[in-house]
Amino acid sequence: MAERTFVAIKPDGVKRNLIGKIITRFEEKGYKIIGLKLLIPTTEMAASHYAEHEGKPFYPRLIKYLTSGPIVAMVVQGPNVIAESRRMMGATKPENAEAGTIRFEYAICQEYNIIHGSDSPESAEREIAIYFKEEELCPNWNTMLEVIMDAK
Ligand code: RTP
Ligand code: MG
Repeated sequence: MAERTFVAIKPDGVKRNLIGKIITRFEEKGYKIIGLKLLIPTTEMAASHYAEHEGKPFYPRLIKYLTSGPIVAMVVQGPNVIAESRRMMGATKPENAEAGTIRFEYAICQEYNIIHGSDSPESAEREIAIYFKEEELCPNWNTMLEVIMDAK
């Protein structure tokens, strides 16, 4: 199976009308979006998503932030997509993010930094399962498109 990662445009990204710009970056890079939805995460979903940070000083604010409005949840597929999408996002602190990265371009604050991306294959599988059922994913849409084109 091709590598998959979980990407989320966080509530600040949605509120600031950056959905299109951010999705465009993944499309233009060449990755395939195989799952996509807009939703307001429940406290349970957010707690499960960020379980590794439970007990840290910023954890309560992190949960409040993620549940404060709609996010765009995405499953993105392609070679080395877990590491590459983290590189496209830039460092957690926007001031440490490389020029041209999403956080460099669109964020000024470590806590409200626009985008999330899984940090390992284990995180990716775990996080995808929080937001998507396997049947909601469309991993083969390129092939499906070819079938439609062939039929014409
Ligand atoms: P993410 O999980 O959202 O992709 O971000 P990340 O890997 O770059 O950073 P991580 O250490 O996993 O932190 C998760 C999110 O928590 C918020 N945060 N606030 N106030 C703080 O010190 C602090 N540190 C982290 C950010 O929203 C960060 O992206
Ligand atoms: Mg993280």
